Amino acid sequence: MTIQFSTKIFPLADLRDSKHLKAALKTLLAQSTDCLVLGYSKADFDGFQGIKGSKSKSSVLSELDLALGGSVAHAVELGELENKPTSICVFRADRSWSAKGIKTKRVLLLGIGDEQSTIDSSLSSYAKVARAGIKALSGNAIESALWFVPSITLSTATDTIEHEVRLTIQCVGDQTYRFGVRQPAMKFKAKDEADSFKHLIFAGNNACAQELKRAVEQGSAMVEGMNLAKDLGNLPPNVCTPTYLGKTAQGLAKKTSLKVEVLGLKKIEALGMGSFLSVTKGSETPPQFIVIRHQGGKAGEAPTVFVGKGITFDTGGISLKPGEAMDEMKYDMCGAASVIGTMYATALMKLKKNVIGVIPTCENMPSGKATRPGDIVKSMSGQTIEILNTDAEGRLILCDALTYVERFKPKAVIDIATLTGACIIALGHVHSGLFSDDEGLVNALTKAGQDSLDTVWRLPLDAAYHEQLKSNFADVANIGGRPAGSVTAACFLSRFTEKYKWAHLDIAGTAWKSGAAKGSTGRPVPLLVNYLIEQK
Ligand code: BES
Ligand code: MN
Ligand code: ZN
Repeated sequence: MTIQFSTKIFPLADLRDSKHLKAALKTLLAQSTDCLVLGYSKADFDGFQGIKGSKSKSSVLSELDLALGGSVAHAVELGELENKPTSICVFRADRSWSAKGIKTKRVLLLGIGDEQSTIDSSLSSYAKVARAGIKALSGNAIESALWFVPSITLSTATDTIEHEVRLTIQCVGDQTYRFGVRQPAMKFKAKDEADSFKHLIFAGNNACAQELKRAVEQGSAMVEGMNLAKDLGNLPPNVCTPTYLGKTAQGLAKKTSLKVEVLGLKKIEALGMGSFLSVTKGSETPPQFIVIRHQGGKAGEAPTVFVGKGITFDTGGISLKPGEAMDEMKYDMCGAASVIGTMYATALMKLKKNVIGVIPTCENMPSGKATRPGDIVKSMSGQTIEILNTDAEGRLILCDALTYVERFKPKAVIDIATLTGACIIALGHVHSGLFSDDEGLVNALTKAGQDSLDTVWRLPLDAAYHEQLKSNFADVANIGGRPAGSVTAACFLSRFTEKYKWAHLDIAGTAWKSGAAKGSTGRPVPLLVNYLIEQK
């Protein structure tokens, strides 16, 4: 089930200006909603004494206490309302509310902590607060809520509003995602504790109306893209095949303005993609090469190109992987899934830029027809590759795709791949690995990651690492040994990207979670969508 997001604009002045507080609260409380969500800061709490207290300074808490006949002070006495971020207290309507013109059924007070740090775009602390609020909403048989956290809607920094609103929507998406909801064929009985919640409305005033509306559109589009990326990742490898990825992309072309082209084996052969073809050789399932276009900018404008690794199952091939947790190699197409999800989001938000998504996709299987360690193949670029390990297959399919995209004369190319186990050793499950020699791209991607809490960490690409890829029998070897495994993988790719600005994201540690919480994260869709939005 997808949650709806919208905005509602009220003729409110700045809530932090105490002169207008009483009137603003009256307006909000008069809204018919299941739940009004109000933020209160540490400063609100510190000055709060309740209506019985003398000379209580005007604050969200004191005005609400006045409107609710002392309930807020009572909650403080009972220890239910605390002076800390993520603290939550819910007030439910009784008969006295309607007599006072209060139409909301509940008021949820949400501690936002130190007002200063929240307004100054400390996004991760904001996200914690937002998550706590959303969790409370989904646990209370609430269908719709009016979200009015002053630091979002009345902050003067418009980019802070946009980031916080997009992030709120992202958090709602993460908390309400259920696998199987969109795949009836999976007969998966989802645990739907959040199913009652359907609609989140962001309240704002005229000063931020435009930013709010835009951010809600962008955030909603991003969540749709993330949900699609998660579904594709989570689907089993006997369902989510290269053909399925191609059909999914073609399905998007039917419901959006995206243009999709899917090339099969014959066309891949005709293009001379000998490296890509060497990976698919052991599989009974045909490979596909998917091109998705969004033409939102001018006709001649250089496009941003995303290339996603689409190994729908990675057994390792003849260099077979050990059996433990091999099922998780169904997630080896998460780069492709993030590209499809990002393209979908791009189309939904009608981005005024040209963007192209390219996906080489196949399985990596062992068989009598499979590529052997020691085989030498010729890539589309003309460089020959000695395949010393058939489990280093991601780079073999990506290098031909990276050569293919030269034809688009791209503004920049970013590839996204679950490329190396070594990246998990280096960065764990926190940051995605970022590799690029272009400082502009590095800065833009780093910032987009911080703004969406979908972060990256830069790793090197120095010439010295290229030494490890030397082959006695071909132009390059496909592995560089154990030291700096993620770096040599990136160095391998860089040999095919000389004609344009390029960055590589290794998402091996961030694309999915293992263990009890096993599932796709939808990363790095938020990062890529933010990058596109913020790109000049
Ligand atoms: N898809 C894997 C990388 C991977 C492994 C991602 C585990 C997430 C979790 C990739 O194709 C691979 O097998 N890489 C090898 C490279 C090595 C043979 C040089 C690896 O990381 O072991
Ligand atoms: Mn592999
Ligand atoms: Zn792989």
